[in-house]
Amino acid sequence: MAEHTIDTALGTDNLPKHVAVIMDGNGRWAKAKGKPRVFGHKAGVEAVRKTVSTASRLGIQVVTLFAFSSENWRRPEDEVSLLMELFMTVLGREVKRLHKNNIRLRIVGDTDRFSERLQKKIADAEALTADNTGLVLNVAANYGGQWDILQAAKRLVLQASEQGLTESDITEEMLASGLSTAGLPDVDLLIRTSGECRISNFMLWQAAYAELYFTDQHWPDFDEQSFVEAVAWFVNRERRFGCTGEQIHALMDK
Ligand code: IPE
Ligand code: IPE
Ligand code: MG
Repeated sequence: MAEHTIDTALGTDNLPKHVAVIMDGNGRWAKAKGKPRVFGHKAGVEAVRKTVSTASRLGIQVVTLFAFSSENWRRPEDEVSLLMELFMTVLGREVKRLHKNNIRLRIVGDTDRFSERLQKKIADAEALTADNTGLVLNVAANYGGQWDILQAAKRLVLQASEQGLTESDITEEMLASGLSTAGLPDVDLLIRTSGECRISNFMLWQAAYAELYFTDQHWPDFDEQSFVEAVAWFVNRERRFGCTGEQIHALMDK
């Protein structure tokens, strides 16, 4: 195959199709400013907005954001209820804007544990944006990678008994088709902010081959430039050429 220079070779094809983000460090960000943790969570909403808008402008197909893990219920009760409140408010406030930008919103996770009110809001938001053809935005809420694999396994057992399948009929694709991200490409780039180098039970199956990107920046500080840098890093790892953040930026305004 002919060698291309970066200018001719770099296009949307080189970008990650699916970017997943573990949005970590809201509490530490707030603490460093002498504020309560809640303040950090509220500031984190702006970083979500920037990430979604940058990804959408770049033409990335799927973004999955880890908003609340199945383990996060162990946090103090007032923090959990604040996070739920925040989730409600943001959902209500942002969904119109997402819709206007042709973004399809999906909530992935075990939503049964949420209040009726929140579940209704989720269903309405998903229904409103269901036919949008732009970025797919998955918000992982009460999500755990082990839960995701388990619920896919349960569906498979059901399918097997209905269709009389035996063990030798079962394939990886069949299991994957029961995951919360069924039909979407696997995660190519997994970003975690705030310096921790672990997966915390996120996208265990889907990130099997993902490039892992860890940055010390706390989530509320993560902005358009941070996202562009992570994408440039990914492109360079995949293609082994020295693409710059400027070149990624240039893709955005095409
Ligand atoms: C991530 O920030 C947000 C959620 C998990 C909801 P943290 O709340 O984990 O912030 P740190 O890790 O304590 O700094
Ligand atoms: C992971 O962050 C979950 C989310 C970002 C929602 P945590 O801060 O909860 O993860 P651990 O507990 O440090 O692994
Ligand atoms: Mg944390």
